Amino acid sequence: MKIIETVSAMQAWSRAARAAGQRVGFVPTMGYLHEGHLSLVREAKRRAEVCVVSIYVNPTQFGPKEDLSKYPRDFDRDRKLCESVGVDVIFAPTNEEMWGKNGVGSSTWVEAAAVSERWEGASRPGHFRGVCTVVAKLFNIVLPDVACFGQKDAQQCAVLRRMVRDLNFPLEFVVCPTVREPDGLAMSSRNVYLSPTERQEALALRHSLELARRELAAGRTIDEVSAAMTSLIAGKPSARVDYIAIVDTETLLPVKRHEPGRTLVAMAVFVGKTRLIDNETF
Ligand code: PAJ
Repeated sequence: MKIIETVSAMQAWSRAARAAGQRVGFVPTMGYLHEGHLSLVREAKRRAEVCVVSIYVNPTQFGPKEDLSKYPRDFDRDRKLCESVGVDVIFAPTNEEMWGKNGVGSSTWVEAAAVSERWEGASRPGHFRGVCTVVAKLFNIVLPDVACFGQKDAQQCAVLRRMVRDLNFPLEFVVCPTVREPDGLAMSSRNVYLSPTERQEALALRHSLELARRELAAGRTIDEVSAAMTSLIAGKPSARVDYIAIVDTETLLPVKRHEPGRTLVAMAVFVGKTRLIDNETF
């Protein structure tokens, strides 16, 4: 496994792989890898001959009051995990390599306007602009044929799919299912912030999605489902709802009634100080 830190070396490696007839699979991450990330690697390896994982905590997608400086990092552990699943290259650039000598930021930003506005976009202004810009840059650096993303970040998938379509990135955009802990909590690098009590109460996300499934199947209105979920979460002292979105899977606009297969229930909940997200399509 190779570790590449510069843009030019990464591009050269991918060009050589492609010239040798190998498809390049790509999994962008911010590191502190878990089984969710590794499932994306396995999918990328099924679809391409070689696999690149980027590990880069992108400052441009964090708000000024968010957890950039304390975002968990452990490159050594990530390196071993990547090796164990047969990653060919880790691309791990510095901020300077990504953004240049004058500091983090860009004159050219990429934004997928409509689909970024609500939910995560409303709670985290500038977040998707940072995500789109860094992922567009990474696509131009890694030159992938296939890129894999997790359904766990449902809106990120919708935003990036839109960007790939609008800007004609020549790659296959793949969304993989959410990987969960045995008790149902969606895996996340941020789960390490939770105290034991918070870890237990974080199951409210999963449980409220299960409740939504039952309520939608029973024909309840969207408002009733949303209210039932809110009150389940309100029963956990450390939890506070940021948003509950019952929306169309593609447009992310609120739906008036449930259409099986097209209704995305997505949520963000603060558990203590940690903001967790989860979603399910029904
Ligand atoms: P990060 O949070 O590290 O996630 C990297 C990829 O792993 C994303 O596609 C995310 O959806 C996926 N992922 C995270 N938890 C998952 C789980 N439990 N099951 C399945 N997939 C999961 O998302 C980012 O980084 C960044 O925004 C990035 C795209 C790298 C741009 O900086």
